[in-house]
Order: sequence, then C-alpha cells, then structure tokens
Amino acid sequence: MKVFIKTYGCQMNERDSESVLALLLGHGYLAAANEAEADVLIVNTCSVRGKAEDKAIGKLGLLAASKRKHPHRIVGAIGCMAQRRGTALLRLLPHLDFVIGTHRLDRLPAALDAVRLAAEPIVEIETSTGPRPDLAGHSPGKTSAFVNVLYGCNRHCAYCVVPLVRGEEWSRSMTDIETEVRHLTQTGVREVTLLGQSVLRYGVAQPVEENDDRLGSDYQTPFPRLLQRLQNIRGLKRIRFASAHPEGCTPELACAMRELPSVCEHLHLPLQSGSDRILAGMGRGYTSAEYVAAVARLREAAPDMALTTDVIVGFPGETTADFDATRALMDEIGFDNAFIFKYSPRPGSRAADWPDDVEDSEKRRRNQILLQEQDARCRRIYQRQIGRIAEVLVDGVSVRNAQRWTGRTRDNKIVLFDPAPDIIPGDQIMIRIESARAQTLYGSITESKVPCQCT
Ligand code: SAH
Ligand code: SF4
Ligand code: F3S
Repeated sequence: MKVFIKTYGCQMNERDSESVLALLLGHGYLAAANEAEADVLIVNTCSVRGKAEDKAIGKLGLLAASKRKHPHRIVGAIGCMAQRRGTALLRLLPHLDFVIGTHRLDRLPAALDAVRLAAEPIVEIETSTGPRPDLAGHSPGKTSAFVNVLYGCNRHCAYCVVPLVRGEEWSRSMTDIETEVRHLTQTGVREVTLLGQSVLRYGVAQPVEENDDRLGSDYQTPFPRLLQRLQNIRGLKRIRFASAHPEGCTPELACAMRELPSVCEHLHLPLQSGSDRILAGMGRGYTSAEYVAAVARLREAAPDMALTTDVIVGFPGETTADFDATRALMDEIGFDNAFIFKYSPRPGSRAADWPDDVEDSEKRRRNQILLQEQDARCRRIYQRQIGRIAEVLVDGVSVRNAQRWTGRTRDNKIVLFDPAPDIIPGDQIMIRIESARAQTLYGSITESKVPCQCT
C-alpha cells in the first residue's frame, strides 16, 4: 500500500506530516512518489484562515471524487481543520474515509485498518486539551529538520484558532529533545529548527497536577537553557527556532544569541500590528514600544540579525491611522521579510463575535501596500548583501536550475552558487555574494570547508 500526504499550513503541520509518514512506513506502508500512484491519500489540513480551509476542502473533494475511478483508494483528512470540524466535515465531504484530529495522529495506522472493515467513516477527535502522544519519526537524508519543543498555545490571541485546534501548551522534556537532535545529527542533519507556536514559552507553562511526572527541571527550564544544552551536540552546526514573541526576548535570550555559535542570527517575530489600540484588541500582550525594545535588545547582542514577521491587515476596528502606524513601524524595524494576511474571522475565536468591519476591498488595498513596501525593503536589504562573504549551509542541487546548487546563510537567505567537486549537502562553506534578486542571493565559493565549531 502506497501512501501520499498533501500538507497545508505551518511548519508544525509539515513536521506532523513527516512523523505520520514515518509512522506509516513503520507499519509496512510505502511512500508514493505522487498522488496518482497512491492507495492512501491523506490531506493534513490548516484552519488558520478561511482560505486555508477552502483549499483543503477543495483538495479533499477532488481526491474523494477520484475514488470513483479507484474504488479501493482511501482518502482522509487529518490536522487542524479535521480537529475543528470533526464529524461535520463528513456532511461537506461524505466520501471521506476518515477524519483524525491533531491529538490523535498516533491512531492513524489503526484507523486505516478499521477503514477497510468499517461501513462508516472513522472519526477520531480528542477534545481534551492535554498532552498528545509524541511522534518523533523523521524522513531520512535531510540536512535540516524541524523538532517540536512546545505543543499547543495558551496565548489565545483574539483572532486565532490555533489554541482551539492545538490545545493547551506543554513542553517536551529537554532529555527527549536532546535525544531526538542527537539522533538526527547521526543521520546527517546539520541544522534544526525548534518549533512552538510561541516557542520562547518553552519550559514556562505546564498544565500539570501536583504529582504529575512532567514537573521538574527537565520540563521547566527556560528556553535559552535548552539552546545551551543543544549547542554541545556533536555535528549540529545550526540551531533556529520559531515563532518568537517579544515577551520571551529577554536578556538571557539575547545572551544565548550572542554567545552560542550554533544559534543563527535570524528571528521570526510576528508583529501583527503597529497600532497599540489594535495590539490590545488582538490581546497580543505587548505594545509597539515593547516590541521595539525587544528588537533593540536582540540587535544589541547580534547586530546582523535578520528579522522576519507576520502582519494582519483589516482586524476589526482597524482605521487608516492604525494601518499607518503598522506601515511606519515596519519601516522603522526594517524587516528582512514579512508575511501579510487579510484578517479572516475564525469561528470560536473571541474576535469572531466582533463586526468584521473593514471591507474586503480595503483589506486588499492595505495588503497590497504592505506587500509593495516590503518588496522594496527586501530588495534594498538583499542588494546590501553584495560583496559580503557569507557562511552557507549547503542544501544541494537547486530544484529550479540543476546547474546550480543552493544553500542558506545563517540569517536564512537563500544563496545559489556553482558547485565544486568536493562539496556535499550539509557542508558549511564560505560564499562571496555577487548579485541579488528579490529574495535570492548569487555568489561563488571562496572556501569549501569551514572548520567545525562543535566540541
Ligand atoms: N504562533 C504564531 C502564529 C501562528 S499563525 C505566532 O503567534 O507567532 C501564523 C500567522 O497567521 C499569524 O502570525 C497571523 O499573522 C496569521 N493569522 C492567524 N490568525 C489569523 C486570522 N484569523 N486572520 C488572518 N491572519 C491570521
Ligand atoms: Fe495564535 Fe497567538 Fe498562539 Fe500565535 S500566539 S498561535 S497567533 S494564539
Ligand atoms: Fe499551523 Fe494552520 Fe494548524 S497555521 S497550527 S496548520 S491552523
């Protein structure tokens, strides 16, 4: 039986898909190279905006329809929209074979067995928000890997569905994380990205009872100390993490970014809005001044740090003055890249009860303005890289141009270069940047091996 997983949504979903695939391979399934040859088709869904759900529903509809031609095909949904809609998804898509939520991915092999015997679709949605089973399987042959460190989210930003579909926050133990990363480096991984919706809250909140075994320093150590612990892993060259929140940008984090050679100079720090009124309405837990102060603290420690962000336009009540405050702040900070989203009301979130009062055409206009301004900023920042000699971690042959190889700088910029015979994926090399396009750098190798900094 061959299985194919189509993934929508964030890095956490990508990571889930990877571990689900590893789980199924362990149960005797094979990986299909494409949808057409698959016997089992799984769509890992996202719920964060209405459009994300529409895309997954459209895809599931097409795949379910393909069962007419391939009657033995199994098609189902997993992930955030599956969690949010549960059985109701079957009213929309009656030909699905299963719907499995975010807390039940470990049940997939058993659910697939059950599908073959059952007359009805299999639905597995766990609504209790406690810890979910840890799936740690990875695909082989990578130089970079995602590693979960914090599940769920307790922030409950007014617009956001994630806490509803991912449950309460809980941190994995440092020992489990370290073991996973050590194992990854033994399989050739050189870079890890530590994942959490608000990753700097690692070790902060544990939804535990008094005698829970998830109490104690292995679970309740602040994030910078986790970085310190991973720094010592042999063969690990780079550590990244996402997403950050200003609250966690403490002097200790700044110190870790300055002192730990593996920790990269890049931070994804969602801003959402530059207006204090809107930030308060969103319940983000910081003001624009606090955001600026957090950035200043980190830039003092790592002056070349690249910053990327997320922004929402058209949140309920956002006036043109609020929007202008966002524009001004984005300009002041000078983000290396930004993802701009039009506000989309999410059922069950607090803001869903407020009037969605910014016209769609106006949301589109604001979205376009921010995109254009960011594009110009991006070009300036990328042009400034010309002449610099950058450390690049080699990914391998470029998918777009087989003559060229690709890699990423420590500040997460893509670099294309002509390969050299002694270079393999996972090498750290030095490249002189010679030209730049909107979001790509081009250069040539000046040094093909960088001495390992690990102990
Ligand atoms: N946990 C991350 C964000 C995860 S969702 C963080 O807080 O840093 C990714 C992005 O989607 C958010 O940063 C936000 O910009 C956007 N987003 C979330 N809910 C949204 C909604 N209802 N409408 C539009 N954009 C939204
Ligand atoms: Fe959503 Fe806010 Fe949690 Fe991010 S921090 S996942 S935006 S509730
Ligand atoms: Fe991620 Fe979308 Fe779920 S952003 S956590 S896949 S709702």
